Amino acid sequence: MTIKTGSQFREPQPLSLRLWHWLNGLTVLLLLATVFLRKSFLSGRMMAHLIEEKLTTEKVVLSAEQAKVAAGAIRDEMWNWHFRLGFVLTGLLVFRIFLTQKPFPRLKPAFQKSKHVGLVKSLYATFYLSLLFMVLSGLTMYFSGDLHISEKIADQIQDIHELFQWYFLGFLILHVGGVIFAENRGDAGLVSDMIHGGERPNSAK
Ligand code: HEM
Ligand code: HEM
Repeated sequence: MTIKTGSQFREPQPLSLRLWHWLNGLTVLLLLATVFLRKSFLSGRMMAHLIEEKLTTEKVVLSAEQAKVAAGAIRDEMWNWHFRLGFVLTGLLVFRIFLTQKPFPRLKPAFQKSKHVGLVKSLYATFYLSLLFMVLSGLTMYFSGDLHISEKIADQIQDIHELFQWYFLGFLILHVGGVIFAENRGDAGLVSDMIHGGERPNSAK
């Protein structure tokens, strides 16, 4: 196997960007986890069924309606974390825009470097645009009452917001896969740069 040498992606990563990167990554993962829980173990239907079944074996008789109310209360408690994390993500986006010392990916110089670098930076550009959309749509839905937004419009926004979860899953797979690939193809040290910052190109060793 031929291993390409020469880094294409390694660059100094300022502390502010590194902090943002890991906190943002964790928050997106946790947001996806709340969605996963809502659609699986903690879905209203599955839990209502479980509650009804378990209580029947304990000789407690609960109507299907009562089981649904209990299940809904537990699910809502978990789902509140979606909103809390949503506000954390909003704060992190504001931090990324105004406080990190790294500009957003610029595509022209990236494509001048190579097509591969250009495509990777384009993926990051789509990530930032999607993040902006998730934050704006999430906040619009959350405050739809205060903003006097009709239920129909809020539902339409929710449909698109919901669809974008697939973008984030796709990004995660491409990004983590891409970073592992790059680490093995001339960019060894890329992940540790994202942890300790890397070296400035002209810094003394
Ligand atoms: C094990 C998990 C992860 C590792 C090892 C990792 C590693 C890295 C590395 C090494 C870079 C710099 C690469 C380059 O400049 O091209 C990077 C950039 C980036 N990562 Fe991650 N990452 C992880 C998870 C995530 C997650 C979960 C997200 C968001 C959902 C994310 C979003 C980004 C973004 C947006 C950039 C570009 C930052 C910029 O230069 O503006 N990463 N990541
Ligand atoms: C990567 C980030 C995010 C992902 C993947 C995501 C995913 C989702 C999904 C899949 C739903 C639909 C759930 C369902 O009805 O079954 C949803 C609903 C919602 N999300 Fe997000 N979301 C994200 C960020 C945010 C942010 C930043 C906010 C802002 C506070 C937010 C607020 C909401 C609200 C208000 C709803 C409607 C909930 C309801 O009516 O029960 N989300 N989200």
